[in-house]
Amino acid sequence: MHIRRADPYIQQAVRALTADGIEAGLFHTGAAAGDEDFPGHRERLDRAVTPRELAEAVAAWGADAAVSISLPCENALRDAAAKAFLDDMGIPTVMTPLAATMSLVDKWETKQLCRRAGLPVPDGFRADSDLLAGRGLFVPGYRDALRVQAARIGYPLLSKPVWDSTSMGIRTLRTPADLDAYLDGCLGAGPEAASAVVEQVVEGDLCSVDIVGRPGSYQVLPLCWTGRAGAEPVFTFADLRWCGAREEADAAFTEAARTLMDLCAGMGVHGSVNVDMIHTGGRFVILEINPRIGGATTLSCAASGTNTFASLTRMARGLPVAEGIAQRTGWAIEFLAREPIAPAVVAELRRRVRVVTAHELVIDGDSYGDIVVITLAEGEEDRTVKTLTELHETTGFPAADVMGKISSLLSR
Ligand SMILES: Nc1ncnc2c1ncn2[C@@H]1O[C@H](COP(=O)(O)OP(=O)(O)O)[C@@H](O)[C@H]1O
Ligand SMILES: [Mg+2]
Repeated sequence: MHIRRADPYIQQAVRALTADGIEAGLFHTGAAAGDEDFPGHRERLDRAVTPRELAEAVAAWGADAAVSISLPCENALRDAAAKAFLDDMGIPTVMTPLAATMSLVDKWETKQLCRRAGLPVPDGFRADSDLLAGRGLFVPGYRDALRVQAARIGYPLLSKPVWDSTSMGIRTLRTPADLDAYLDGCLGAGPEAASAVVEQVVEGDLCSVDIVGRPGSYQVLPLCWTGRAGAEPVFTFADLRWCGAREEADAAFTEAARTLMDLCAGMGVHGSVNVDMIHTGGRFVILEINPRIGGATTLSCAASGTNTFASLTRMARGLPVAEGIAQRTGWAIEFLAREPIAPAVVAELRRRVRVVTAHELVIDGDSYGDIVVITLAEGEEDRTVKTLTELHETTGFPAADVMGKISSLLSR
């Protein structure tokens, strides 16, 4: 993903390093990055860079320490392998060790880890595409075994590739016929053929949390609410994404947060993990634990006055970082404008509210419009709704549907 998703925290972290006389370098694949993205040394590497090549590039630059901030999971895995080389070269690297990263990039293994830790997970089973296709081993009962499992759990079900990210490849299976069609897809060689976790659909509020630190010292950032979960797949940015008070859920989350910190400690998590969950019936059902920075990091940093990128660089320098459950310092709200926002309108928005970032959202090279994150203190809800409503009336931005969601969120 584009480095701009880390705006403005990555730039602040680099400036803090510069102020301490430390040079920062960015080794990235994907989109080009400029000074405004990363005010330091920048090196663009091929998307297919191997862990060894990556480690060598970082070493050739003369790094004393390194931090992984790659998205999504396949890049985190590459970095975890590069970490093994870097650590050996005497360049300590803030990244979860490879064995733990390999478990966390795999949704089935993650489910088992959570279950063993006592965290609720959706009931499900693993569908192995090789076994379905008879590759390697012929297991005549395999397909029927999966059908029996599915019937036991009940429809609708979701199938999720064990390895993919950002909702890619997720399918709703409403009937046994859907399951059969999905299992047929596994016989081919295309992307359909990926092994998957097939699991129960959980209805509730989607949320996500970042945990940053190393064994013995973790900080849990505030919960981010990211939309509704149910049988219908929803685009990640379709709804408002926000951090703010939600007393009952916040209280209920404390225990889950402690269990998650213990799980991280047990696995040796080093750096950041991002946990996706569904809040339902007072519980937090864990969907996955991404062994990397999350997609809602900016939001939780904005709502808590923390900076995950600064925490990671402090860890790389052996400096202490905050631990425990971070307190929220206000609201942070993220929304997508499907039409590009005119610069004059962005300037007016900045005059009216505190804008954390406003930039184009690019995923896999495609533009999804402009993403905006604003913050406000508790007590500023009415004023914020009023000033945004005025902006909407004069400029049409934020769009009526977004405006409606912001008002109903802030007037609860
Ligand atoms: N068991 C489930 N019940 C309902 N919705 C789900 C479930 N699992 C995943 N989803 C939906 O799919 C999205 C992506 O799932 P997730 O497990 O986080 O995988 P990834 O983010 O790697 O694609 C979630 O944010 C949620 O909207
Ligand atoms: Mg996810």
